[in-house]
Amino acid sequence: MQLQDILYSQGFGTRRICAGLIQQGLVSIAESTPTDAALDVDPQGLRFRVQGVEWEYHAPAYLMLHKPAGTECSQKPSTYPSIYTLLSAPLRQRPQKGAVQGVQAVGRLDQDTTGLLLLTDDGKFIHRLNSPRHHVPKVYEVTTRHPIDETQVRRLLQGVVLDDDPQPVRAAACEAVQPHHLRLTLTEGKYHQVKRMLSAVGNRVEGLHRSRIGSLELPADLLPGQWRWLTPTQVDALRGSGEGAAGAK
Ligand code: URA
Repeated sequence: MQLQDILYSQGFGTRRICAGLIQQGLVSIAESTPTDAALDVDPQGLRFRVQGVEWEYHAPAYLMLHKPAGTECSQKPSTYPSIYTLLSAPLRQRPQKGAVQGVQAVGRLDQDTTGLLLLTDDGKFIHRLNSPRHHVPKVYEVTTRHPIDETQVRRLLQGVVLDDDPQPVRAAACEAVQPHHLRLTLTEGKYHQVKRMLSAVGNRVEGLHRSRIGSLELPADLLPGQWRWLTPTQVDALRGSGEGAAGAK
């Protein structure tokens, strides 16, 4: 693959800008600084530097972000900064089918929710993880205003009715870890679902943190605001989580 196309595919700008970066000696691979924009390079596993920024070739991109509180998952946030400002610029400029699209969040978390968020430019992956049909489990650590009692846990497991839907929604798992700390596993993602479920059983969410999606746990050393590439093993495991996973590639 031509070096200029590699840079372009990773979001370093238009083909012309990418060619210019190479010709000006601003791109290096290991110890060399090629200036031929059309140089043929194997992109698999390629590490390079663009204007001092270390980059690893990924096509497509799959990453996890530790979403901090006070950020919105929208590209055009209304009140708080967008989570997209926490990502490296190339991730926001990745081309897709000729247009600049960048990576997209796999579902959304509320502005005050913290924790694990996945982002990718693989539309099928987003669809698979978001689809209610696949029941991918998501684990939330909930801090509650009032102590959690047995009745609340039982009702959350049996199902509660939310205002906009006659079908009850239930937790796949629910455990009172401490009097004010509930661990809740959901396999769907309705709007404000955890907050509305807790309110339906007479409690209230004071803090919400997503600790796991499918088999992927938020790493303890990934601090709020930091992101990291997913490994191919993690991507495969996520594709295989939930129901009806066989052949879901
Ligand atoms: N449920 C909520 O209420 N908020 C979130 O951010 C995620 C799940």
